[in-house]
Amino acid sequence: MLDENFDYYKNARDNGGIIYNRENNCWEIYTYDACKYVLMHDDIFSSNPKYAGGTSGLSFINMDNPEHKDYRNIIAPYFMPTKINEMTSEISDISDKLIRNLNHDSDIVGNYAVELPVNVISQLLGIPEEDRTKFKEWSDYIIGNKNDENFGLINNYMIRKLSGLFSKNPENGIMSVINNGYINNKNLNINEKIGYIMLLIIGGNETTTNLITNMLKVLSDNDDMINNLNNDRAIHNFIEETLRYYSPIQFLPHRFIKEDTELNGISMKKGQRVSVFLGSANRDKNMFDNPDEFILRDRNEHIAFGRGSHMCIGAPLASPEAKIALNDFLHYYNRIKIDHKKSVILENPMVYGYKTMFFE
Ligand code: HEM
Repeated sequence: MLDENFDYYKNARDNGGIIYNRENNCWEIYTYDACKYVLMHDDIFSSNPKYAGGTSGLSFINMDNPEHKDYRNIIAPYFMPTKINEMTSEISDISDKLIRNLNHDSDIVGNYAVELPVNVISQLLGIPEEDRTKFKEWSDYIIGNKNDENFGLINNYMIRKLSGLFSKNPENGIMSVINNGYINNKNLNINEKIGYIMLLIIGGNETTTNLITNMLKVLSDNDDMINNLNNDRAIHNFIEETLRYYSPIQFLPHRFIKEDTELNGISMKKGQRVSVFLGSANRDKNMFDNPDEFILRDRNEHIAFGRGSHMCIGAPLASPEAKIALNDFLHYYNRIKIDHKKSVILENPMVYGYKTMFFE
């Protein structure tokens, strides 16, 4: 997304913050309070596209409660901070290896920011070492980084591999809870099991990649910032502020109105779609003082991870990944300056981040 969209958001908020976009046939929500309201009222604003004539989909990000909760609860224990803490030394090892391999001409996105989360997810899932490259390639197709006729081949390969892993009845880890998942009196079928893995790939990769590059952008744009990052509290506040200021997901396009309703006095009709602009809510002056300034705030109730029942399950994993990445960049580089001529920004309005990033 380009920075000028922040001006568009501000204008939208100043004009009430709720706009009907005829071209996309969708309500766009820009203020903090209204975004939060939509996310918290999942009884009216469903995540299931079927309410707007779409198909339901297999993963729980598109389900409503109580079904959503049943599916989410199967893997939720693996994303508790206590469980994630067990992974920090593995995350550090992965980061250390990647950062040591960078040189002056390396693209930081391709060689570090993409690699860290995909390797962490492989580790979390216990993908065997020899299949990591294929897993990475499969992820690239799933998240849309790659799009060609080879998808069929690699997709079949990975589905065979993963089915093989499940059939061996993994004893520990997240694969075992997915394998033993039991809902509505029956075991999950193989499509549902693979659906979980795809959801973790979609949810956990590009988002974390962009958080990492966005932190580097802040450091590059603010020469003095590095001097403030000398304790855990400051590092924590820096990561949270990056999530607020440059939210990796700028809007969630998937809420669907289940019954006629009203929001801030505006009538909305059953079957209409709603887009929730997290990136705008996070710049709302009614919630944040000086919202267009990057400040190491002690109180920062941004909604970059969403809110309510679908709030990001992976946030406890994204945070240590970001922390380790930041500490490593601060350790290995005494100067972080992006070469803006060589680096390329992602122009997709849904995300904030870089396609490639090179240092001067
Ligand atoms: C900076 C990194 C991340 C950001 C900004 C982010 C953002 C979000 C947001 C906004 C949602 C809410 C979606 C909704 O309400 O419909 C969400 C949900 C989700 N995220 Fe993340 N995410 C991040 C990292 C991760 C990671 C590391 C994982 C897993 C490895 C992950 C897995 C998920 C899943 C499975 C959901 C669906 C939750 C549900 O529907 O109950 N995310 N994420």
